[in-house]
Amino acid sequence: MLLVTGGAGFIGSNFVLDWLAQSDEPIVNLDKLTYAGNLENLSSLDGDKRHVFVKGDIGDAALVARLLATHQPRAVINFAAESHVDRSIHGPEDFIQTNIVGTFHLLEAVRAYWNGLQDVAKAGFRFLHVSTDEVYGSLGRDAAAFTETHAYAPNSPYSASKAASDHLVRSYHHTYGLPVLTTNCSNNYGPYHFPEKLIPLMIVNALAGKPLPVYGDGQQIRDWLYVKDHCSAIREVLARGRLGEVYNVGGWNEKPNLDIVHTLCQLLDELRPKAGGGSYQSQITYVTDRPGHDRRYAIDASKIERELGWRPLETFETGIRKTVAWYLTHADWVANVQNGSYLEWTTKHYGQTSEAAV
Ligand code: NAD
Ligand code: DAU
Repeated sequence: MLLVTGGAGFIGSNFVLDWLAQSDEPIVNLDKLTYAGNLENLSSLDGDKRHVFVKGDIGDAALVARLLATHQPRAVINFAAESHVDRSIHGPEDFIQTNIVGTFHLLEAVRAYWNGLQDVAKAGFRFLHVSTDEVYGSLGRDAAAFTETHAYAPNSPYSASKAASDHLVRSYHHTYGLPVLTTNCSNNYGPYHFPEKLIPLMIVNALAGKPLPVYGDGQQIRDWLYVKDHCSAIREVLARGRLGEVYNVGGWNEKPNLDIVHTLCQLLDELRPKAGGGSYQSQITYVTDRPGHDRRYAIDASKIERELGWRPLETFETGIRKTVAWYLTHADWVANVQNGSYLEWTTKHYGQTSEAAV
């Protein structure tokens, strides 16, 4: 049995689906169902006894203690977080509460549970913390990619809160001996990605005939990894990662944002040509830059390849084609997330940015 937190979000739900497609080991899925949690992602598991969903907060120590005592998991995988940089700029408090305070309470509950385990179960237990490359800060154009020893220099409230949670996890290993593993991954993309993030937002806006809002000059670089490859990396680290170690996970796919948007427009031009003719590129619109916008991220994923033999299966070209195809065939999923708080968020954020069409 695994306890997965945040398993109704983008990466967590992909992880749960992939895990149960390959294994009969059950999952207890603890998720608060914030705006980013979507049980529709897991609807294919309806009635499947291997998946137990619990609505709740990782910061609710009593609830977590009860779940641990009842289900006796051999591992906890912590995906739960506030994850959107722009939201952290508009309102950092939820990020502090979940990513720092929530992780602290989760660690405390797990430490108490682990201390009470018998020898074999205690030795086999793992706490895997899912983190981000953003904790390392921004790279210069020619600087070497982030290795696991790169100094932390988080620049947004989001990345600072993730950095704090990484430090707490690290400290629980060094101080209490808790058997932890940490992964720091680059930008994911793929199915069930909430359309507030670059790739799904561009696809959804393009199809709706709306502007494609590129921040600043669009030359910021991200290192893209297909979400299923992130999930396979987490499975490898859980199975064979060395205790207390950090593993960087990335796809060796550095791309400027504007290239990503052009690629998406080209794929949509091919797969779903605009009704009136012309290219989706005509919808590209430059908007005010994100404050403190990190210029470049790049992950050196040599360690996980060397130690665990992990490599991504998808190239960017295959992964992005699958992703666009997924959004084209899941219009209902998109329609269902485009209501309530998501729409309010869009108005609040993009309503404040100045737009100049090109
Ligand atoms: P997401 O925002 O799509 O999902 C987060 C999930 O956590 C949601 O289901 C939400 O309901 C849940 N959640 C939030 N607060 C909670 C709380 N207090 N208690 C329980 N559940 C709570 O995020 P994601 O993109 O799937 O990211 C998952 C994890 O991976 C995060 O820790 C993130 O920092 C990390 N990460 C994300 C990326 C990326 O590109 N998306 C890359 C590297 C690392
Ligand atoms: O690097 C890993 C991180 O990747 C994760 O830790 C975060 O949880 C995840 O959200 C993501 O953060 P980014 O800020 O890189 O992702 P986002 O999709 O928000 O933005 C990607 C790039 O695209 C970034 O340079 C900002 C830019 N952008 C984004 C949006 C939403 C735009 O130009 N226009 C937009 O409308």
